[in-house]
Amino acid sequence: MIDAQKAKIAVFVSGGGTNLQALIDSDELKHGEITLVIADNPSAFALTRAENAKIDSLVISRKKPDFEKQALMALRAANIDFVVLAGFLGIFSGDFIREFGGPLINIHPSLIPAFCGKGFYGLQVHKAALEAGVKVSGATVHYVSDVIDGGEIIAQKAVLVKPDDTPETLQKRIMEEAEWQLLPRAAEQIAKTIVEERSC
Ligand code: GRF
Repeated sequence: MIDAQKAKIAVFVSGGGTNLQALIDSDELKHGEITLVIADNPSAFALTRAENAKIDSLVISRKKPDFEKQALMALRAANIDFVVLAGFLGIFSGDFIREFGGPLINIHPSLIPAFCGKGFYGLQVHKAALEAGVKVSGATVHYVSDVIDGGEIIAQKAVLVKPDDTPETLQKRIMEEAEWQLLPRAAEQIAKTIVEERSC
């Protein structure tokens, strides 16, 4: 049952949804509740995770010209307070961000401003980090703006790069040691603010 006191969260996903799972499993997310999962493709495993957790979900193809309009309608219909992009490959326009009006946050698997922006998604991020020879990488949670990975930084966590890392091993370690902790913590911070402001 949905708790009316909690901030209502919608999570946008495109793939495996391990960050969604971290949010679902988190003990830290006390002031927020995921009430909607939106995927941009029907085969995203994240949808199965939503179903297992009995969270409403829907698929809206990003190929549709009215993707943003449909997404906005869904967010409004579900009274969503804030949006988390968790492994979502789409980019939202400034108009969408303004019209939604609530906070939108994203998790990115590097220490922004390194290895971010256009083309830096999935394994590409970790491949670029290894090619650059950095000894530390990590993850960043940031507000979504109309600049890709360019919104205000909320939280970051560093992860050591090992000499024998591959993009796959580095991706896994950054998820385990940084992303799955950072995202629920940041979501709780925002949910708490929303709930406190509401009760003022
Ligand atoms: C994560 O590394 C996330 O930071 C990035 O895409 C990956 C998706 O992972 N944006 P998942 O779908 O949450 O498992």
